Amino acid sequence: MKEQLQAIKANVEELLQKAASPEELERIRIQYLGKKGELTAVLKGMGKLSAEERPVIGALANEIRDFLGSALDAKKAELEAQLQAEKLQQEVLDVTMPGRKRAAGSLHPLTQVMNEVQDIFIGMGFQIAEGPEVEYDYYNFEALNIPKNHPARDTQDTFYIEEDIVLRTQTSSMQVRVMEQQKPPIRVIAPGRVYRSDAVDATHSPVFHQIEGLVVDKGVTMADLKGTLEVFAKSLYGGEAKVRFRPHHFPFTEPSAEMDISCFVCGGEGCRVCKGEGWIEILGCGMVHPKVLANCGIDPEVYSGFAFGVGLERIAMRRYDIDDLRLFFENDLRFLKQF
Ligand code: DAH
Repeated sequence: MKEQLQAIKANVEELLQKAASPEELERIRIQYLGKKGELTAVLKGMGKLSAEERPVIGALANEIRDFLGSALDAKKAELEAQLQAEKLQQEVLDVTMPGRKRAAGSLHPLTQVMNEVQDIFIGMGFQIAEGPEVEYDYYNFEALNIPKNHPARDTQDTFYIEEDIVLRTQTSSMQVRVMEQQKPPIRVIAPGRVYRSDAVDATHSPVFHQIEGLVVDKGVTMADLKGTLEVFAKSLYGGEAKVRFRPHHFPFTEPSAEMDISCFVCGGEGCRVCKGEGWIEILGCGMVHPKVLANCGIDPEVYSGFAFGVGLERIAMRRYDIDDLRLFFENDLRFLKQF
């Protein structure tokens, strides 16, 4: 048995000499020290030895086991150091090489215009309100003085989820939600996506964006509406921009109007952009209908307010002289990179 142990020691020494990788070392370890390893087998056979032999062989076996363990560890450390040195030699770092440029993206033109509009109104003390795109018929129509059979529903014929739930067709629904939750004075804008079952063409999309505005307080008049929206128009289109209001009809405002701005291309002379009119329509507005105030629990005898709704795509198209709304939604980088 003594010879056997010595042979094991000699074999391992030889194997270790030749070993060139950590994987090889692991194989050697298993071959000798593993559960079914050669040295392990010898150690297991110790029971069969006589009482005199056992301590002698036992001591030798332990010595060899310790030797194997530390020899393997030492060789492993040596190999690892060697590998590391080789690796360091191969990895040359050229600090003069030009870096790899990451293309920086930019905000979508609609987002840019949306941010600009929001900033203008925040500057006038408005707060921003957000609400659901999947909306109750009540908020989208009913509470806004558009009952079930009102013809105004036709022009906004929409996507119904259920009998009384629609994809909102206008951000005006937010007027009601805000008035239900806040007491006057109220000064909010509500930007967001709206949906209508329109076929896609150069000026129509089934999904687009609006920015709703609402002001309610004691003594709010049409003069406030005009002043506020004029500041808005001039901020957006420059100090020379002129505005005009034309009578119109919306069920939830009385009186109602549409606001035009003087054409920013020709300044009012008439050109291709304004189709020769000199004016461009940019929003709908009006004094909040007393019925709508009452629907929201606000006493129309005490309070009054004005509201407006702006189409974001329309503003952006005019802003950048874009003649096809589909460009905003196609995500063509050749288009988007221009902003
Ligand atoms: N909601 C209207 C639309 O989608 C726009 C609008 C008009 C909003 C007048 C208003 C308003 O708040 O007072 O056509």
